Amino acid sequence: MQAIDELITGQSAPIKELKNLIEIVAPSASSVLIQGETGTGKDVVANAIHAASQRNGRMVSVNCAAIPSELLESELFGHEKGSFTGADQARQGRFELANGGTLFLDEIGDMNLNLQSKLLRALESRTIQRVGGSDDIPVDFRLVCATHRNLDSYVDDGRFRADLFFRINVFPIQVPSLAERSVDVPALVDTIISQIEPHTDQEMPTFDESALGEMSRYNWPGNVRELRNIVERAVLLFSGRTVTGKEVRNNLLRLRVPSRNEEQEALWAASQDLEGISGDTDLESQSPLPHPTHYKEWFAYFDSIDLRRHLRDVEVVLIEAALEKTNGTISGAADALNLRRTTLIEKMKKLMIEKPTDS
Ligand SMILES: Nc1ncnc2c1ncn2[C@@H]1O[C@H](COP(=O)(O)OP(=O)(O)OP(=O)(O)O)[C@@H](O)[C@H]1O
Ligand SMILES: [Mg+2]
Repeated sequence: MQAIDELITGQSAPIKELKNLIEIVAPSASSVLIQGETGTGKDVVANAIHAASQRNGRMVSVNCAAIPSELLESELFGHEKGSFTGADQARQGRFELANGGTLFLDEIGDMNLNLQSKLLRALESRTIQRVGGSDDIPVDFRLVCATHRNLDSYVDDGRFRADLFFRINVFPIQVPSLAERSVDVPALVDTIISQIEPHTDQEMPTFDESALGEMSRYNWPGNVRELRNIVERAVLLFSGRTVTGKEVRNNLLRLRVPSRNEEQEALWAASQDLEGISGDTDLESQSPLPHPTHYKEWFAYFDSIDLRRHLRDVEVVLIEAALEKTNGTISGAADALNLRRTTLIEKMKKLMIEKPTDS
């Protein structure tokens, strides 16, 4: 049996908590519902639960979103010979294959209401009937479900049966986003590197401290999967080399395409949608902002802070940095900060920031 620690990389507080929960629930027979954003590692968690369950049978996974709903029923419950066109042999379904083991229903939120009723019946009676059959076949399975959808709201909208929801949600596990556990980024990079099989003339790159810092500050909307993509990209672009923070920013997080203008226009259009801001910002210099959860981690080290002083300090640092970048031109700095020129001047007065003299 692989230890939970080997399967799940990370020592951050939320990941330690996650591992504790897995350890507690794994040996029981309780149904587990794993929720979390895309790419956070829900499959990884399901595997860890099965590995630590010490159940003798296999873990059988079914992705409910990937199998067309007309086929999903016979996939899950199996079918008898002649039950539909093309069913020239009887076949066991995944419930039977998972006998003695774990049935992992991934993307359970995508299961239609008709099948939800059948799943509920199977959970209540611990027996199933194959499609076209009438025998009750006993099945001993441990159910683990996962979804990136908000099942609560699906229940409210009538898209997911409330009774089934309570059945599968005996033990909920929330997988944290990567941004909530960015201290794990360096360890995850190591794990991912160790899992990549290099081509013959490829050598693994190393990430220096600035690179890991840059990656820790990024907010990873695609979570660990996105991190894996970035590391794989680095293997292609920087085989055997040391990758710096600047390269993470310019070549990995944002893959440079030859026609820079087109890319900048696309990025600009996208950022307009986000903020409705105007002005001509130099996109080259726009690195990802620190994710707000970093402050949460940092705050954990203190009993109290002076919020107003900190916000003021952040303003001072960013205004001074903007002025430095634009060689002390107020309008340039205002553009870089997406502020009106007059607003910036007011702030500089209030914060007693002097306009640097050209050097
Ligand atoms: N803690 C972890 N340690 C090592 N690798 C991880 C960890 N978490 C996730 N990964 C890796 O990240 C990738 C995405 O993980 P996984 O497929 O489990 O995510 P998911 O939450 O199921 O995503 P989706 O919602 O898209 O199904 C995989 O390559 C997986 O190996
Ligand atoms: Mg998944």
